[in-house]
Amino acid sequence: MALFRLGTPAEPKHAIRGDDVFLRPLEARDHPAWAALREQSRDFLTPWEPTWSADDLTRSAYRRRLRRHAGEMERDEAYPFLIFRQNDGALLGGLTLGHVRRGVSQTATLGYWMGQPFAGRGYMARAVRAALTYGFAHLRLHRIEAACLTHNERSIRLLEGTGFHREGLARAYLRINGTWQDHLLFARLDSDPAAPAVRVCPSPIGDEAGLSLQTICAPTGDEPCSRPA
Ligand SMILES: CC(C)(COP(=O)(O)OP(=O)(O)OC[C@H]1O[C@@H](n2cnc3c(N)ncnc32)[C@H](O)[C@@H]1OP(=O)(O)O)[C@@H](O)C(=O)NCCC(=O)NCCS
Repeated sequence: MALFRLGTPAEPKHAIRGDDVFLRPLEARDHPAWAALREQSRDFLTPWEPTWSADDLTRSAYRRRLRRHAGEMERDEAYPFLIFRQNDGALLGGLTLGHVRRGVSQTATLGYWMGQPFAGRGYMARAVRAALTYGFAHLRLHRIEAACLTHNERSIRLLEGTGFHREGLARAYLRINGTWQDHLLFARLDSDPAAPAVRVCPSPIGDEAGLSLQTICAPTGDEPCSRPA
């Protein structure tokens, strides 16, 4: 199996630094903020997501989520991240590069959610750009796919604004909010124009994030990274 993993699997504990946002894997200490933001955003999110289980926001379900994520990252299957605001560390939302397929595919599926108080301010577009850099440069993906409901204008604008191409319609593609629903399919290739350049910053995000690992910076320019650690 390892022979077919043409790309280099990621260090799962990477933090990704974007423009005004940073992304890192979920940690146990995030539960209170995560549960509060998801609860506050329940009516905003649930029409667009798989049905939440009755215990979804509890600490025990969160612990199971963390264990699942750790296994997925270890096996190079999925890379779930939380999104934080750079200047104050506020939790904004989440983003996952999931369903990683290696071999001749080298493809992953992008999923995301934004806390309602932070929606419409451009944070997700910045987080997606950072995740694209991580996916193409670090996970060595060839293709990143995304799917959204045909009437999800925000999601369509987000994907088109971050360089995804609309590829088609998949009938009854996912069971969202309890109903099998048609989805628009989008994808970006590593070879698409304006693919994000890559820079690995020497500076970690900082102790506050509990990380001392190298940081993937995105988007990038020619000048050296000057953001404070
Ligand atoms: C979809 C979602 C993740 C986008 O996150 P966000 O932080 O609001 O997105 P951004 O602020 O970065 O905006 C992205 C694009 O959406 C547009 N947008 C934002 N709010 C919008 C609205 N109410 N109606 C139409 N477009 C909207 C922005 O203008 C931007 O497009 P532009 O670059 O062409 O101007 C977020 O709104 C969300 O979580 N929605 C509910 C759950 C959901 O839809 N999940 C995704 C399932 S596929």
